[in-house]
Amino acid sequence: MTRLDYITSLLSEYNSVCDVGTDHGFVPINAIKSYNLSKAYALDINEGPLDNARKNIISEGLSDKIECILSDGLKDFNETVDAIVIAGMGGLLIKSIIETSLDKALKARALILCPNKEEASLRDFLVNNGFYIEHEHILYDKGHYYEIIKVVPGKREYNNLDILYGPFLRKEKSKDFIDKWNKKLYQLESAYKKCSRADKKDDILNKINAIKEILLYGED
Ligand SMILES: C[S@@+](CC[C@H](N)C(=O)[O-])C[C@H]1O[C@@H](n2cnc3c(N)ncnc32)[C@H](O)[C@@H]1O
Repeated sequence: MTRLDYITSLLSEYNSVCDVGTDHGFVPINAIKSYNLSKAYALDINEGPLDNARKNIISEGLSDKIECILSDGLKDFNETVDAIVIAGMGGLLIKSIIETSLDKALKARALILCPNKEEASLRDFLVNNGFYIEHEHILYDKGHYYEIIKVVPGKREYNNLDILYGPFLRKEKSKDFIDKWNKKLYQLESAYKKCSRADKKDDILNKINAIKEILLYGED
């Protein structure tokens, strides 16, 4: 399954969705086509991508169900929806979009997030700002490992390993999880061999040992 198909599949239980940074509009279009959603919003900060989405929405005959809105994050979005999707951006950008409109984000029943990097920083922010992680998945799509993180309003306790590797992912240890961290391990081991600074070498070695431990055990 592709990253966008998996994200869309998580919308099956909802009635409305807002896709922030929609670009082509794939998620809202396919959510409406596949499930029983009555309304979707396609948001983008740039006119070009929003035009792409608009064209695709018109060609699918879905203009009455999907509204396109030019907006920086959720700043110009004033509806309440069941689910908010933010995918295909760095974790720090996703964090900043949520942080800027935290009150709006907390009104949704779920946030479905798919950062393409900085996953741990995003998890750390979410669990310290009114959300807990209800579901996680990792998959390989078009040359990249993607973590899909679904959070809902509420509070749970997490430890450092949960934040770094994902509370569900590190225990499930799926093939894609193992492959992702083996790849990272390989990169760090190459960096370690090339590195000449003792303090930097120590730092890399700590990271290598932490990953080896999670791959071997994965438990607390
Ligand atoms: C790489 S595309 C990802 C598209 C789609 N969400 C996906 O996952 O395939 C990133 C999109 O996010 C939009 N974007 C970047 N920053 C944004 C922001 N602050 N608010 C809304 N959209 C933003 C960009 O214009 C672009 O269309």
